[in-house]
Amino acid sequence: MDRNGPTYIVLFAAAVCLVCSAFVSTAAVSLKERQEVNKKLDQQLKVLNVTGIIKEGEAADRATIVAKYEQHITPKVIDLESGQLVPDADPATVDVKKALGDPALSVAMTSPEAKAAQVPRKPKQALIYEVDLDGDKATDLFVLPIFGKGLWSTLWGFLALEKDGNTIKGITYYEHGETPGLGGEVDNPLWKAKWIGRKVYNGDKVAIGVKKGAAGTVAEDPYAVDGLSGATLTSNGVTNMLRLWFGEAGYGPLLKKLRAGGAS
Ligand SMILES: Cc1cc2nc3c(=O)[nH]c(=O)nc-3n(C[C@H](O)[C@H](O)[C@H](O)COP(=O)(O)O)c2cc1C
Repeated sequence: MDRNGPTYIVLFAAAVCLVCSAFVSTAAVSLKERQEVNKKLDQQLKVLNVTGIIKEGEAADRATIVAKYEQHITPKVIDLESGQLVPDADPATVDVKKALGDPALSVAMTSPEAKAAQVPRKPKQALIYEVDLDGDKATDLFVLPIFGKGLWSTLWGFLALEKDGNTIKGITYYEHGETPGLGGEVDNPLWKAKWIGRKVYNGDKVAIGVKKGAAGTVAEDPYAVDGLSGATLTSNGVTNMLRLWFGEAGYGPLLKKLRAGGAS
């Protein structure tokens, strides 16, 4: 075959493509399991970060993360239709992202809060995390998953609450596609620190939100956090998802019981 002819060139290019695609797909398939394990580890680290057990940015190896998670964190399944814990359910079986794509495992939401947060469905079952800080087997904090639309993406994260079911211990996002320096400032530790000590509920109303401009101190402004400058749409997304998940359709009923002093 003529090495400079078009047939040779096309066949050569096709062979190179075939070999490269075989490499890429083999790598993708063989690394999938490891990616899943790393994703799970990252979520465990974020749960530990939001509680302050491992400080954000603090170096922690895999063994430390797993050990601290096992020592301090107990995931529990919550039925989001009744708002009650499901004591016998296995947390390992709950996959919220998968459930959202399965009509048998999720339900449509049409409330104004769901529309504002652009969350059209909720899983029937979700996870919450009980946190024992001092090893006395009593729950000191709750970590509650949150998600909702920002400007470009769905932001997925956690909000940690004190055992009063109202005071914020921390907020963090583990996945989003907002613009670095604008909406991506949700990851800025200085902004996240501004949430600590603020309150979610004023009476039974979900009052917490991100305001435009600067909020006062925790004492002056217990229900507001500084807006992200140049990123009002992401800021509104954060407010909207909190109004949804801490309201009736989310953790509202469970936390109401807690605030009233009932068993969780
Ligand atoms: C390239 C580009 C990326 C942007 N990324 C974000 C973003 O991630 N989050 C956001 O709320 N606004 C983002 N904006 C700005 C919004 O379009 C909008 O102007 C802004 O949210 C208004 O906020 P402000 O009232 O604080 O200026 C971006 C704008 C541009 C041009």
